[in-house]
This record gives sequence, C-alpha cells and structure tokens, in this order.
Amino acid sequence: MPATMILGAQWGDEGKGKIVDLLAARMDAVARFQGGANAGHSVVVDGRTVVLHQLPSGVLHPHCRNLIGPGCVTDPAALLREIDDLRPVVGDLGPTRLLVSANVHLVTPLHRWFDVMQGEAIGTTGRGIGPCYTDKVARAGLRLGDLLGSDPGPRLQEHQERFEALARAFRLPPPPAPERWQPAFREAVAALRPVAGDVAGAIREVDQRGGHLLLEGAQGTMLDLDHGTYPYVTSSSTTVGGALSGIGCWVELDRRIGVAKAYATRVGNGPFPTELTDALGEEQRRRGREYGATTGRPRRCGWLDLPLLRQACLVNGFNRLVLTKLDVLTGLPTVRVATATDADGRPIYTDLPGWTDPLAGLTRRDQLPAACRAFLAFVEERLELPLAAVSVGPDRQETIVEETLWH
Ligand code: GDP
Ligand code: IMO
Ligand code: MG
Repeated sequence: MPATMILGAQWGDEGKGKIVDLLAARMDAVARFQGGANAGHSVVVDGRTVVLHQLPSGVLHPHCRNLIGPGCVTDPAALLREIDDLRPVVGDLGPTRLLVSANVHLVTPLHRWFDVMQGEAIGTTGRGIGPCYTDKVARAGLRLGDLLGSDPGPRLQEHQERFEALARAFRLPPPPAPERWQPAFREAVAALRPVAGDVAGAIREVDQRGGHLLLEGAQGTMLDLDHGTYPYVTSSSTTVGGALSGIGCWVELDRRIGVAKAYATRVGNGPFPTELTDALGEEQRRRGREYGATTGRPRRCGWLDLPLLRQACLVNGFNRLVLTKLDVLTGLPTVRVATATDADGRPIYTDLPGWTDPLAGLTRRDQLPAACRAFLAFVEERLELPLAAVSVGPDRQETIVEETLWH
C-alpha cells in the first residue's frame, strides 16, 4: 500500500508534529512506530497549542485512526493521562480512533526510576525509554498483550526482582516497592484493553479500503540508535528501517519527507558541530522559544548543518524536505549554513544575506523576501531535494505548502 513517512532529519523537535497534523487532514491513519513518552510534538491550531507525547499527531482529525505500533514503548498511566487531558479538545479516543499494538513493551515506574538514576550522562528525558528498550532486547520486557492475557502478578514480581538486583549491582538505593506502583500500574494496563490490538491488521484494513497511511517519526535521525551520534542517542530506530519494523508490515513509502529546522537545535548532551554557545545562540533560543516540550529544558541552538542533513537523506532516502521555523531567522543580517566539514571535523560555513521583512501571513513561496527565497534555493540545490513545504510560524495555517507535499 502507498504510505507517507515523516521523519526528523536532525536531533528531534524539528516540527514533525505540526507537519504530521497538517498532512493528517488527508490521511486515513497515522502510526507511531518507535519511542514513547520521550517525544513532545506541539501542534498549534487557531492559536491553541496541543502537546502530544505518546499519541500520534493525527488525533486532532476525528476521521483519522491513530496507531501505536509494536516498535513503540508505552507508559500506560501516562498514556491514559494524555488521553484524559486531551478529551476537551479532541473528544473520546476509543477503539475506532486509537489502537495500541498488543506487542508494545510497557514502561514501568521502575524503568523511569532507573532512567533518572542513570541517564544524566546522556541527558535523557527521564521517561524510562532506555531501560524499557534494554529489557526488550534482553528478552525480559513486559508486553501489553502478555499482561492482558494472563495474571500479570508473576511477571511484575520478576520485573521487581530484576530492578532490585540492578540497584544492588549499581549501588543505588532500592527501587520503589511493589505496593507503591504495581496496583496503579495494573489498573492502567487493564484500562488499555479496549484499545489494544493488531496494528498490522489495522493497516491492512486501511489498505483494503484504498486508504492512505502516514508514518510519524519521533526524535530525529541523529538520535537513531544505529545511525545517530552514539552513545548520545535515544534507544530506538528513529529512521526508515525502524519505521517498517515498528509498524510490523510492508508498505510502499512513496513520500519520504524529512523535516528540518532552518537552523539546528539539540536537547541533552552530545556532539553538535554548528552549536552557537555565545549570545547569538541565546538569542536564537529566545526567538525560537527553544525549550523542550517534554522536559522544559533549554535547547542548544546553532546553524543549519547541510553535511548532517545529507547524511540524514542518505540514511532515509528522503525525496522531499520540509523546512520549519524560517521566521526565526528573520532579522539576522547574515544567515550561516555549514556546507562542508574540514579535516578535523569542524564545519565550514557559507554566509548568505539575511532578510528583515516578517514572514507571517505569507502563503506562497514567491511572496517571501528575495534573500529568503535565495536561502531556500541554496538548501534545495545543495541537498538536491525539493522543498515540499516551508513553515513560517507555529500555527497550522502558517505554512507555505507546495503540491509535492500531497502528491
Ligand atoms: P517535534 O518534536 O518535531 O514535533 O517538534 P516540537 O513540537 O517539539 O518543537 C517544535 C516547536 O516549534 C513547537 O513549539 C512548534 O509549535 C514550533 N514551531 C513549529 N514550526 C514553527 C515555525 O515555522 N515557526 C515557529 N516560530 N515555531 C514553529
Ligand atoms: P521529539 O519526538 C529532542 C533526546 C534526549 C537525550 C536523548 C536520549 O519531540 O523530537 P531518551 O529519553 O530518549 O533516552 O533520551 O535523546 N531526546 C529528544 N530530543 N526531541 C525528542 O523527541 C527527544 N527524545 C529524546 O534529550 O539527549
Ligand atoms: Mg519535540
């Protein structure tokens, strides 16, 4: 079946949520395929901001089914809270609108506890993602379907003992006692029963109806476990391979859309060649409101890095690019772009003229200031990739859309 894939091309927070929401208007289903509550995808409609963590960014469209694929990790209580919090905005998310794969691995309070204890060096989000995927790979994880299918007691007991042993081995204080978390956890798992099921089967149904599927990436290419800036990465496959594996069936990814900011940000530790550690970086953070949607941490800011984007294109086979937050660059006398890397791995920059006219309200590319258009043409030419859309503000409306976004 034909499908569209939207992935972050940098270190996350590229504006994927906004673009997925925009495209979801014409989609029958949106599927997340990796990650969990570490994601924070902001969608702004008519000035109202909705931040999604575990739910796919199709939830604002009532006709669209939202799928959480088997490659994801699910924090049951946090997911229920998210569904509750969103009810006034999106209504009820019952089984016709939401399906969680029975094969997702569950994030427990012990995973979160261990993440907080151990995650500082990487600067994780503390949502238990690494420890949960670690258990999955160690074949010691807790899958939703398994806990729904039989008495979860023995599995939770084993899980408790595993973390007590880890605490001893790492000389940590003991993890939360079972009575402090297991009753609420069991209740939350049971509450997911109506929406638990077979995601690949649901995708087949969409296909049989001639519908269209959108695969929504979380995090970004440079946070991919295999292809990112290891070890400063997340613990899942955020790239094209992870997309197919994480939904559990073959689809033709005919539209492969990379989303990048017109500059670069990173939250957490790890290499960032074009980082601005000076006042200009501060200014970019202020103008772009670069604070994490999940943890509120200030994001590190820097210039657009084309060698890094070229790498993201190579990994994912992008055939379209969406550039976001172009408006944040307005007013800079010069816009810098890293175009190559020197022998020591340092970026080599090209300086392009900036623009001063605000971009708000513009709906066509030919309305943009000439210097801004030249910047876009430069990026397209250097990446040999057409721009399918340009985002000039956070709201759904504030987007310059080309026909190639839809076809
Ligand atoms: P995601 O994780 O990739 O979905 O991105 P986030 O939602 O975490 O971060 C992107 C932030 O930038 C959000 O606060 C968006 O509302 C905002 N945003 C998206 N596109 C634009 C844009 O074109 N201009 C501005 N100023 N903000 C944008
Ligand atoms: P979205 O989907 C930006 C970063 C963390 C940390 C590293 C590992 O909103 O783009 P983890 O908690 O996943 O084990 O943390 O990855 N990170 C993100 N950075 N956006 C995200 O998600 C992120 N999810 C994780 O800051 O450096
Ligand atoms: Mg985000």
